[in-house]
Amino acid sequence: MIYQVKADIVKNVRVSSKIYRMELAMPKISSLVKPGQFIHLRINNSFDPLLRRPFSVNKVIKNKKGKVINICVLYEIVGKGTSLLAEKCSGDILDVLGPLGNGFAFNDALLKNKQIILVAGGMGIAPLLFLVERLKDKRTKNKPVIFIGSRTKRDLVCLDEFKKAGCIVKISTDDGSLGFKGYVSELVENFLTNCQPLIPNPYIYACGPSPMLKKVQSIASEYNLKGQVSLDEMMGCGIGACLGCVVKAKTSGAGEDDNQPVYKRICKDGPVFDIQDIQWED
Ligand SMILES: Cc1cc2nc3c(=O)[nH]c(=O)nc-3n(C[C@H](O)[C@H](O)[C@H](O)COP(=O)(O)OP(=O)(O)OC[C@H]3O[C@@H](n4cnc5c(N)ncnc54)[C@H](O)[C@@H]3O)c2cc1C
Ligand code: FES
Repeated sequence: MIYQVKADIVKNVRVSSKIYRMELAMPKISSLVKPGQFIHLRINNSFDPLLRRPFSVNKVIKNKKGKVINICVLYEIVGKGTSLLAEKCSGDILDVLGPLGNGFAFNDALLKNKQIILVAGGMGIAPLLFLVERLKDKRTKNKPVIFIGSRTKRDLVCLDEFKKAGCIVKISTDDGSLGFKGYVSELVENFLTNCQPLIPNPYIYACGPSPMLKKVQSIASEYNLKGQVSLDEMMGCGIGACLGCVVKAKTSGAGEDDNQPVYKRICKDGPVFDIQDIQWED
């Protein structure tokens, strides 16, 4: 069920120079939402920006009775829509559509005795925090290890929350201002090269820019690892109608014509796909 609601902004707090976390009151959507799903926000009532903007669910907030009532999104200012969003105050109202997309699979059968490895590039951390919160009760092999990559240490957020959720946190920055200097995919590869014999059954969840996800796919092939990726691409309608978000996938998954590429909609068939599903452009 997809709802369109008017949600009160509870908080809109700056957490780093260009990154904000907004908490929205929307009990209907909150009670249904799963990690990896997103909400589609109408920024204002004017025609500019015309299209809604998609944001992953970063966290859910419960009331005193333990009922999930609010949703937080973590967003970076990159253009007009996100700049306007950053100016919103508590008490303002946003038109929200959700929950949208498929979300991550994380059932017991899939994850039993697995070592969970999470890979986040930039704002790719947003859905992974919600995921690790829900993974807490799973019978997995060891503590999840999250690899977080960002341009510089100033853009690193949520580190304490990942630690609190029981993760081992490994960091890379492009400029070397904190952790490993280089791309997060290199950090993951180094880790697997040095440690893989010691960690049987790694299972990957990754979210971030396409070049990172492409690299993670090739690492997964090399080490024969399974996992899922969440894509963060430009979107139009968000509900599967405009075909503005299609990606080339390797198979239909239906077993017929498995060598023929098919096109999948990120908003409806994704944003989460099997790690080997996407046929990335060269
Ligand atoms: C399923 C999904 C979940 C997302 N979750 C989050 C999230 O949790 N936090 C977050 O900060 N962002 C997230 N995004 C990206 C976010 O939707 C965009 O950053 C936002 O729509 C930009 O709006 P804008 O008006 O500020 O920028 P625009 O003015 O539309 O664009 C500014 C610049 O950003 C680029 N851009 C816009 N959208 C994207 C995109 N999706 N991917 C790459 N480049 C883009 C444009 O090409 C342009 O260069 C998500 C996107 C998708 C598809
Ligand atoms: S954004 Fe319209 S089909 Fe996906």
